[in-house]
Amino acid sequence: MEPTTTRTVHDTPEVARREHPPLPASEKDLRWQQASRNPRFRLALIVGGIVLLVAGFFLWRYLGSYESTDDAQVDGQLLSDEVVANVVTLLLTAGLDTVVAMLGFFVRFLALNPAHRRQLIEEPACIQPAVEELLRRFAIVTLAREVTCDVEIRGIGLKRGDMISVPTILANLDEDAFDDPLSVNFRRRTIPHLTFGGGPHRCMGAMLARTELQIFLQEWLARIPDFSIRPDFDVKVRSRVVTTIPALPLVWAAAT
Ligand code: HEM
Repeated sequence: MEPTTTRTVHDTPEVARREHPPLPASEKDLRWQQASRNPRFRLALIVGGIVLLVAGFFLWRYLGSYESTDDAQVDGQLLSDEVVANVVTLLLTAGLDTVVAMLGFFVRFLALNPAHRRQLIEEPACIQPAVEELLRRFAIVTLAREVTCDVEIRGIGLKRGDMISVPTILANLDEDAFDDPLSVNFRRRTIPHLTFGGGPHRCMGAMLARTELQIFLQEWLARIPDFSIRPDFDVKVRSRVVTTIPALPLVWAAAT
């Protein structure tokens, strides 16, 4: 069957806007346009705006009078507000682009490998090990570390203050650790990969990420079992701290 529907998985709204002209106004847009011409609707918007402004003013006053209790501690040491704010910011941001980027690699692999796709559809029990295997095969994070003292490791001298980058994918493709590491095998027995890092800074959101990826596979494959990458499209991979696929246009047959 000819693909009749096109959807695109993008990592930035800019790419989406550049490559896709706006869709024609939907019924919802038209209803909104009609309502916005109604004087009573406009009055309701103005009153709503004033209520929001007043509420915002009192919230601002309340936050201004808030005093930190400084009771967050690590090993008996109080954490400053700045450190707490940094930790919360890291927690909120670390889970956004990572999962999106990982999904790009999951989807690209499944679009190019119909046999693996079918395996997941016919044996849903494979979805959990498949998430682990795809996490291993397509590790996206490159860790950064600052050297804290002069040291020599296997003949390589490092100076205090040097920066090193550690792509987690290298450990995951180690032939001493994995048979045929470049192949994706949903039946691999144990997968002690380093996609989520290791040691004290090991990913705090690993279980959440796994759950999101698993639910994605279940829901996507139940609705769109067959899909492929738009044939004329040249898929690029952008390697940074988090490696991404900036744009991945997909095609599939519309449901009849
Ligand atoms: C597939 C998705 C994800 C991947 C591949 C991933 C990968 C990583 C890696 C490799 C690290 C270690 C960084 C280092 O040692 O410098 C890390 C740390 C971290 N991740 Fe994730 N992550 C993912 C999803 C998430 C999610 C969903 C959250 C939270 C909602 C999250 C929160 C964090 C936090 C807070 C840290 C810092 C932990 C620390 O420094 O103690 N991550 N992640």
